[in-house]
Amino acid sequence: MKYQQDLMIEKKEFLNKNNFLLILKSRTSLPEILPGQFVNILVHDVADRLLRRPISIHDADYSSDTISVVVQKIGKATEKLSLVNEGEVLNVVFPLGNSFSVEEKRPLLVGGGVGTAPLYYLAKKYYERGIRPVVLIGARTKEQLFLIEKYSSIADVYISIEDGSAGEKGLVTDNSILQKEFSAILTCGPTPMMKAVNKEALKKNIPCYVSLENRMACGIGACLCCVSDTVNEGNVCVCTKGPVFDANDLKW
Ligand SMILES: Cc1cc2nc3c(=O)[nH]c(=O)nc-3n(C[C@H](O)[C@H](O)[C@H](O)COP(=O)(O)OP(=O)(O)OC[C@H]3O[C@@H](n4cnc5c(N)ncnc54)[C@H](O)[C@@H]3O)c2cc1C
Ligand code: FES
Repeated sequence: MKYQQDLMIEKKEFLNKNNFLLILKSRTSLPEILPGQFVNILVHDVADRLLRRPISIHDADYSSDTISVVVQKIGKATEKLSLVNEGEVLNVVFPLGNSFSVEEKRPLLVGGGVGTAPLYYLAKKYYERGIRPVVLIGARTKEQLFLIEKYSSIADVYISIEDGSAGEKGLVTDNSILQKEFSAILTCGPTPMMKAVNKEALKKNIPCYVSLENRMACGIGACLCCVSDTVNEGNVCVCTKGPVFDANDLKW
């Protein structure tokens, strides 16, 4: 079941220069929200056209009926979103898409850049099941990291920074935690990073599930602008069949 609602901006906080957190409050009880699902937020662009923008659910709190998202300012709509004020409302369609599995015995969660955002809710779901997951976070510089203490409260966090300013120097695929045994890798981030992470999973002979961030519009399978090619089903809409896919089912 999908909902379209005006959610009130309860909190807006800049986490670093380009990333900000929005906590959005529903006036009604939240529906079940699965890790990996996303919201589609209506934004007026600079030409004042109405656009929806897909953003992953970073956290959901049923006790306060709030959904959190972390947004990276990258273009016109996310720039506009960065200017909203607490107390205003955003029209949001949610929850959209499929989800990551929470059935893995020893999952490794790998996030790159703002792709780290949905891994918090995923890690929380594992934590609630009694599994403290390993979360490996990659960024170019340490200034791009966000909410590390929050992740560390429910997961064992490892960091790879390209310039060596924190954690281990290099890419996530260079991180020493990859020497350990895992049952599966679940990842979200830039496509080249996810492809490289999948190569590591193939070496280990374990599954790799990736969350794609294709350009989207409707978010509900109607406009066909988000299609990716798969081995099993051919061209599929990432907004409805994904965003999470078995990496080996993707022709990428
Ligand atoms: C399922 C899903 C979940 C997402 N989760 C998040 C999230 O949690 N936080 C977040 O900040 N962003 C997330 N994104 C990406 C976000 O939707 C885009 O960054 C946003 O729509 C860009 O809008 P804009 O108008 O600001 O940028 P535009 O002006 O449209 O584009 C600016 C630049 O960003 C690039 N761009 C636009 N959309 C994407 C995209 N989907 N992937 C990669 N590059 C893009 C464009 O090619 C262009 O170079 C997600 C996307 C998807 C599909
Ligand atoms: S965004 Fe319209 S079909 Fe996927």
